[in-house]
Amino acid sequence: MKENRYDDQTFFDKYSQMARSQKGLAGAGEWPELEKLLPDFSGKRVLDLGCGYGWHCRYALDHGAAYVLGTDLSQRMLEQARARHGGPGIEYRQAAMEDLQFPEGSFDAVISSLAFHYVRDFRPLAERIGRWLVPGGSFVFSVEHPVFTACGSQDWYYDENGNILHFPVDNYYLEGRRDAVFLGERVVKYHRTLTSYLDTLLQSGFTLRRLVEPKPPEELMDLPGMRDELRRPMMLLIAAEKRQPQGGYGYFRALQRYRTDASEQQCTKHAENPSCFQLNCTRKRSKILLYFII
Ligand SMILES: C[S@@+](CC[C@H](N)C(=O)[O-])C[C@H]1O[C@@H](n2cnc3c(N)ncnc32)[C@H](O)[C@@H]1O
Repeated sequence: MKENRYDDQTFFDKYSQMARSQKGLAGAGEWPELEKLLPDFSGKRVLDLGCGYGWHCRYALDHGAAYVLGTDLSQRMLEQARARHGGPGIEYRQAAMEDLQFPEGSFDAVISSLAFHYVRDFRPLAERIGRWLVPGGSFVFSVEHPVFTACGSQDWYYDENGNILHFPVDNYYLEGRRDAVFLGERVVKYHRTLTSYLDTLLQSGFTLRRLVEPKPPEELMDLPGMRDELRRPMMLLIAAEKRQPQGGYGYFRALQRYRTDASEQQCTKHAENPSCFQLNCTRKRSKILLYFII
């Protein structure tokens, strides 16, 4: 049974007061780092899992995506998404991400921001995302960091005067459900180790591209409590890519992709400068050769 806390009126009202709900991406401390991991969205079909208000969907569309599908469990969150970031090219769908089904190769990029720690089983989801992506497709997501989710309480330990002592990390290797407190409300989250996230991706047909434990930006350091955010990681950002299939079929697909790229390049460059034609032919031959040698 998936818990849908964001449809609870009290929880939703508190969430809507957060800076990230009011200011969008500019109000999300991790955004500058996450943005650097995102792929070029030009002409891409993009899926956002747990899209919330749809800020990332809008970003993808504004950066050239051909089509964006935002999915979320919460009707209230989707109402906000449709009102704020609806329009041509973006579609929103209410569904638990664990229940989604798409034909193989439906998307060029899958993104997700701070939603996977609400999902009990990461492996089947990662495997299905791998099937929904085209070979070479991007998978970029953020989650609460395993150091942050391990203990469950997600709060500091304080002395008798209310000063922070330290952040508790306990039961790190005991993966599974945690009764966390977020915005003063109880909410179920799921803890996984760093190994689980990374190894699951590697075993599900992904290549790891980047991994970031974002620190708060220097310019926000004077805000109350912000320096304490240097004492433990709260988030984990991961960029992965679906591996090309191995063997003859892999070479065939790679060749097909290169042929398309090369002929598109030839047309545009040829119009600007006819001498480029020869150059592209040479590059094309050497790349084809390379694919067969590897
Ligand atoms: C912290 S919010 C993040 C929203 C948005 N991605 C962002 O970064 O602004 C987490 C979102 O995940 C959604 N969510 C939680 N569990 C989900 C599930 N099993 N399937 C789909 N969405 C889920 C919640 O409804 C909520 O909108």
